[in-house]
Amino acid sequence: MQTGLGRYPTTRMRRRRAADWVRRVAAEHLVTPADLILPIFVIEGVDRAEPVASMPGVERLTIDRAVARAREARGHGIPALAVFPCEPDRVKTEDGREAANPDNLMCAAARAIRDAVPEIGLIGDVALDPYTSHGQDGILKDGVIVNDATVALLAKQARVQAEAGICTVAPSDMMDGRIGAVRRQLDEAGLENTRILSYAAKYASCYYGPFREAVGSAKALGAADKRTYQMDPANSCEALHEVAMDLEEGADLVMVKPGLPYLDIIHRVKSTFGVPTLAYQVSGEFAQIKAAGGQGWLDADKAMLEALLSMKRAGADAILTYAALDVARRLQG
Ligand code: PBG
Repeated sequence: MQTGLGRYPTTRMRRRRAADWVRRVAAEHLVTPADLILPIFVIEGVDRAEPVASMPGVERLTIDRAVARAREARGHGIPALAVFPCEPDRVKTEDGREAANPDNLMCAAARAIRDAVPEIGLIGDVALDPYTSHGQDGILKDGVIVNDATVALLAKQARVQAEAGICTVAPSDMMDGRIGAVRRQLDEAGLENTRILSYAAKYASCYYGPFREAVGSAKALGAADKRTYQMDPANSCEALHEVAMDLEEGADLVMVKPGLPYLDIIHRVKSTFGVPTLAYQVSGEFAQIKAAGGQGWLDADKAMLEALLSMKRAGADAILTYAALDVARRLQG
């Protein structure tokens, strides 16, 4: 920071804020539809949408409806969707093997969206929690999440997704070594152009509550938590270590998650590595704003935009947000 930038009364900061045009010209950061990635929840069936109670305005969609949503997102300039499957109990097993089934719900959704809306980016969630009967992101043996066996299954999961048309696989599990394993598996399968978006700094956050409700992993998880693999909210330097390892293993883009409570991490990751850094405004952040808005306690539309802008200011290149479509519509207003 330069010093001696100016002194009152020669310098009056308010001159720069005095008219709409100059405020716009002087704006350092901007949220545009191109910054927004829309997460979608996919369910089995045809022509159905189920509301998610804890996420006002968010619905679980059958594949045909998801295709329509993809078209709509594309029409509003949203570059990509992040796809999450909501699996019925009958496919959930102790070892989560459905994750690597090339005909699972995620792959079917990917094929349908890829065919209908080929220009939109498709980010596939790579993790076992939608498929395990215990709701953990890994294989559980004697009460412990086994790292390397989990990673082997994640690599297969990433491959079947990529083969189904997912252009960017996104491991969200926080096992050690999974980025390298996924990269090797993709390369061996001739999928060297498939990108990896690593949930590199993902915290063990209570803000995932509504999401777990949406995908049905809350019930399976019960009172258990994910603190043996997701990061401790008390840590920040550790996030840089995580990101460094994932980049070394071949991550193309990295993510910090959640967003608003971790702006310092977004800033440090972006300024340290200078790589494309995404933030995830997670379900609980979304729900918080919507709930207060619903009570008439704050203007939810403005609060949403301000929260997203804070992540851009912190250094995020793009943001996953359940409000992506809403915000894009308003920005184009
Ligand atoms: C699980 C996963 C989670 C989210 C995305 N992928 C939840 C968790 O780790 O339990 C959370 C997203 C959100 O809260 O919006 N692999």
